Amino acid sequence: MTFAFLCAILLSVGLLASAQNIQIQALPPTVSYGENDLVIVCSITNPSQLNAVFFIQLQRNSSTTFETVVSVADGTTPPLQWKDTQLQGRASATGNVDSPNTAQLRLTIVKDRVMCPSDFKMYMCRMLGISSNGSETVTQETSPIIISYIALPTVIELPRVKIIGENFDTPNRTFPVGTAFTLTCQGEIGSDQINTIRWCAQRANEMMFTGLPQTPIHSEASPSGCQYTRSSTITYNLTSQDTFTKFLCESGDTGLCGTGTAIQYVNISTSG
Ligand SMILES: *[C@@H]1O[C@H](CO)[C@@H](O)[C@H](O)[C@H]1NC(C)=O
Ligand SMILES: *[C@@H]1O[C@H](CO)[C@@H](O)[C@H](O)[C@H]1NC(C)=O
Ligand SMILES: *[C@@H]1O[C@H](CO)[C@@H](O)[C@H](O)[C@H]1NC(C)=O
Ligand SMILES: *[C@@H]1O[C@H](CO)[C@@H](O)[C@H](O)[C@H]1NC(C)=O
Ligand SMILES: *[C@@H]1O[C@H](CO)[C@@H](O)[C@H](O)[C@H]1NC(C)=O
Repeated sequence: MTFAFLCAILLSVGLLASAQNIQIQALPPTVSYGENDLVIVCSITNPSQLNAVFFIQLQRNSSTTFETVVSVADGTTPPLQWKDTQLQGRASATGNVDSPNTAQLRLTIVKDRVMCPSDFKMYMCRMLGISSNGSETVTQETSPIIISYIALPTVIELPRVKIIGENFDTPNRTFPVGTAFTLTCQGEIGSDQINTIRWCAQRANEMMFTGLPQTPIHSEASPSGCQYTRSSTITYNLTSQDTFTKFLCESGDTGLCGTGTAIQYVNISTSG
C-alpha cells in the first residue's frame, strides 16, 4: 500500500519533470489541396507551470536540418519575426508571448497560395520560458509532425482514337461497323498512385453511362507536382448498336460513372 503510494508519487514527479509545455497542431491535420488553408498552431499546454514565455519558434526541415520559419519573441520589434522571407511573401502569421495563458504562434497559408508538395514538410515548435517558481529556464520543442495532404485530379485530356493496325491517332469519329479501335486518355489521378482512370459508355438508346467491361491497360503512375498522372487505353469493337455512342474517361470518381473530378468525353458513330 505504502509502496504503491510512493510509486504513484514518484511517477507523477517524473511526469511533471518531463511535462510538455508546448504543442503543435495542423488544422486540418490532412489538407485537401486547393480546398483547405494550411494552418499550423504552436501553443502552450501547461501555462500554470510557466512564469513567462520568452519566445516561440515554428521550424520546418529543409534537407536535413530544421530551420526557423517565423518566431514571436518578447523584446523584439516587431514581436513577430520572419526568417523564411520566401514563405513570408505568401503566408501570414500571428502570435504573442504576452503571458503563458495566451502565448501562441499561428502560421496560415491560404489555399490558393499553398505550394504542393514543397509546403508539406516536417514542422515543429520550440519555446523558451521560465518555470512558475521563477528559478529555471525551460527550453522545449515538440516532436516534428508531417502535414499530409490529399489532392483530387482535375486535369484529364480528351480521349484519343486510334484504329487498330494504324500508326497514328485519327481525328475521325465515324467508322464502319466492325471497326476495332483503341481509346487512350491521359490525366491526373490524384495524390494516391494506386488510383487509375476508368471508362464508361452510353449508347443512343441508353439512359445513362455504364462502366465498360474492358480491362484498361494503364501506364505507370508518374509524379507531377502533388499528383500522379497515368494514361489508360481500352480496345473497342464497333457494333451495329453503336449508332451514336458516347465514351467517357474519368478519374477521382466515387464509383458511379460520371462522378469523376476530372472527366472528358468522345462521341463515336457508325457509318453506312
Ligand atoms: C525532413 O526530415 C525527415 C526526417 O529527418 C526526412 O525524411 C525528410 O526527407 C526531410 N524533408 C525534407 C524536405 O528534407
Ligand atoms: C522549479 O520548478 C521546476 C519544475 O517546474 C523544478 O524542476 C525545480 O526543481 C523547481 N525549483 C525550485 C527551487 O523549486
Ligand atoms: C477519315 O475517314 C474518311 C472516310 O470516312 C477517310 O477517307 C479518311 O482517310 C479518314 N481520315 C483519317 C485521318 O483517318
Ligand atoms: C474485337 O473483335 C476481334 C475479332 O473480330 C476479337 O479478336 C477481339 O477480341 C474483339 N475485342 C473486343 C474488345 O471485343
Ligand atoms: C457528344 O455529343 C453530345 C450530344 O449527345 C454533345 O453535347 C457533346 O458536345 C459531344 N461531345 C463531343 C466531344 O463531341
